[in-house]
Amino acid sequence: MDERTPQDRPDAPLAVDAVRAGLAGLRLGWRVTYFPEIGSTNTYAMGLARQGEAEGALVTTDHQSAGRGRMGRVWQALPNQQVILSLLLRPRFPPQFLMMVSALAVVEAIEQTTGLPAALKWPNDVLVNERKVCGILIETSEGAAVVGMGLNANGSLADDPELGARAITLADALGQPVSREALIVALLTRFDGYYGALQAPGTDGMFGRQMVRDAWRARLGMLGRRVAIRQRAGGQDGEPLVGLAEGVDADGALIVLRDDGKRTLVTWGDVEALG
Ligand code: BTN
Repeated sequence: MDERTPQDRPDAPLAVDAVRAGLAGLRLGWRVTYFPEIGSTNTYAMGLARQGEAEGALVTTDHQSAGRGRMGRVWQALPNQQVILSLLLRPRFPPQFLMMVSALAVVEAIEQTTGLPAALKWPNDVLVNERKVCGILIETSEGAAVVGMGLNANGSLADDPELGARAITLADALGQPVSREALIVALLTRFDGYYGALQAPGTDGMFGRQMVRDAWRARLGMLGRRVAIRQRAGGQDGEPLVGLAEGVDADGALIVLRDDGKRTLVTWGDVEALG
């Protein structure tokens, strides 16, 4: 690994050779393509998928000029401070498991690398101190999937009252900078383990699904709480769906008991706890 510590230069460019060395031997991350700056790593990785690139290719950068979030939102950049990556996959299992694996890998990598407790907000936001620290965008096309992750590692959002109220960096939570290289290696290592279990043929793959579902469910916050779910379609926010978040079904859908006594299965949207 690189001799530098993040404390020496928290905003130094990513030490991509250290990342490559740390990923050696994994199935995922067999190729790491790094750009000092790019529009969106997800868009680039989707292009690789269309060209027939093998699964496990990783695209990373220090700065996205056109980072994309879920539901048509913009993903805000913190140049040289975030973990920004997109992973090209060709999953042979239903997409909801990819969503669960991605979030689990991030939570576990944060805990392993920083010691900070991290929580999961349905479906796949990762929170530290109840504020969003990582966003995940999964895009699919013709048998390929790109998992894009933006993890607020270094820098601070404390001076931005609007963003700082709902988002946080690991450095802010920890009181010191973190190694983005160590985070990427821990994240891909966790991801690789779960993904291998899911891709396994026959009953081994079914065992992988059960393991992932149980681990994801165990980490999920907000169950048993009153929530509002907002779904954005066609650039418009609809009326929020309000009710009790009772649980999740086998496919990861949120089971909401509405105030009129009816149960609804919710498969996408932004969930907010009301108390
Ligand atoms: C969200 O919470 O809305 C999801 C944010 C996803 C951001 C990541 S950063 C890497 C990848 N490239 C993108 O353009 N978006 C994802």
